[in-house]
Amino acid sequence: MKLPRKLHIKSYGCQMNVYDAQRMVDALAGEGFVETASVDDADLVILNTCHIREKASEKVYSELGRLRAVKDEAARHGRTMNIAVAGCVAQAEGSEIIRRAPVVDVVVGPQSYHHLPQLLAQAQHHGRALETEFPAEDKFGFLPPPKPETIRARGISSFVTVQEGCDKFCTFCVVPYTRGAEVSRPVTKIVDDVTRLADNGVREITLIGQNVNAYHGEGPDGRAWSLGALLYHLAEIPGVVRLRYSTSHPRDVEDTLIEAHRDLPALMPFVHLPVQSGSDRVLAAMNRRHTASDYRRVIDRFRAARQDIAFSSDFIVGFPGESEEDFSATLALVTQIGYAGAYSFKYSPRPGTPAADMREMVSAEEMDERLVRLQELIDSQQSAFNAAAIGSTVDVLFERPARNPGQIVGRTAYLQPAHVMASADIIGQVLPVKIESLERYSLLGEIAVPAHAPRPQAAVSHVTTPSMITGA
Ligand code: SAH
Ligand code: SF4
Ligand code: F3S
Repeated sequence: MKLPRKLHIKSYGCQMNVYDAQRMVDALAGEGFVETASVDDADLVILNTCHIREKASEKVYSELGRLRAVKDEAARHGRTMNIAVAGCVAQAEGSEIIRRAPVVDVVVGPQSYHHLPQLLAQAQHHGRALETEFPAEDKFGFLPPPKPETIRARGISSFVTVQEGCDKFCTFCVVPYTRGAEVSRPVTKIVDDVTRLADNGVREITLIGQNVNAYHGEGPDGRAWSLGALLYHLAEIPGVVRLRYSTSHPRDVEDTLIEAHRDLPALMPFVHLPVQSGSDRVLAAMNRRHTASDYRRVIDRFRAARQDIAFSSDFIVGFPGESEEDFSATLALVTQIGYAGAYSFKYSPRPGTPAADMREMVSAEEMDERLVRLQELIDSQQSAFNAAAIGSTVDVLFERPARNPGQIVGRTAYLQPAHVMASADIIGQVLPVKIESLERYSLLGEIAVPAHAPRPQAAVSHVTTPSMITGA
């Protein structure tokens, strides 16, 4: 019998890269590859790269330097190790990678992962292979689904890509160039994927897309369905107890999405809605095509539909021309909205984007200083948000054993990690947890006995309490 070949895959960047990595593993499973956590014994190493900021992008070349030594070592032992670069750097700098890094055998852009087996074969027979075209066909039509045992091994929470690419062209951003034009997958394909996942134990589905609420996939009725319509439909699938979506754009928040938050208990009241800046002048220069007030109005619409909704966001500090006054407007917006958390980044000029040609650079010192001030404000909001959970009883979807023996960790509706002492039987269930304390970003608590159930006699008997799937 032929021994399985070993595949090691390392992903950088966003959730879509995490998901794509799984789909590449699925595609290569058919070729006899099994995943390995160690790079040293791998027959194939895939770097799934991110181009969003300079730092992310440069990691590729330093990682390739390290891999060269590992590949040489394998060769000394008579083993061939192949190295592939996938993801957004592959798309943006494919030929440069081939030129600069002879260690690389295959370069494959994000829309061509279904061609990986052919590209590997090509590299084996003809040297090296590069594919960064945007093929006419949809890769998802060709990527094999994961096997049931693979789904189970991946846990109870899963991403599903529903939309990919971006037509917004924010002036700082590479995504429209690396992921291509906006494409939505048809509803029936997504339903098939979600059903397969739910049938194999997945309880939480996060629909992902670079612009997920621009979703307009073809529905079974032949019409274009919105993200809201898709969510209503997916909430009906047995086993799906939590639904999320990411990342949204403030310009594409339709009424059906707001209504879905009002009507669907499975749709979690936590929305990542990046705004980037609170200054209208900067927002215009970024080509965001919304103002700070537009954004506040979108937030108000969500809050009117669902009182317990919370938000996270992304911010860029030091965009070209950002004045102290512009930055103050960002701080003011953050103060007004009140976030459960947010990511903030220093502006990084990206080759080929319009902002890279803008002259009025903010100095490195000013950027650093603004980043610290913004992060302090966001951290204080996040800490207050987390501390507010203490003493309350919240629903937790349990995911896996925690590091401490006997502890199981899950997540609240707001993705806060929550730890309880319990048996592993509760994994995959949503149970009410009385939150007792907060340790850094983690909540600690005890499973609350549902009011109608008899109180447990023995210390461990709460574990055997009939599972109470709430949130569905
Ligand atoms: N599609 C999402 C996010 C895309 S990238 C959206 O539209 O919001 C994730 C985040 O990276 C962005 O929200 C932005 O805050 C940040 N980002 C993108 N390009 C950047 C750049 N050139 N410099 C610094 N941060 C950047
Ligand atoms: Fe980038 Fe803007 Fe598209 Fe988001 S909406 S992916 S920030 S171009
Ligand atoms: Fe990075 Fe590409 Fe995602 S640039 S953030 S991996 S879409």
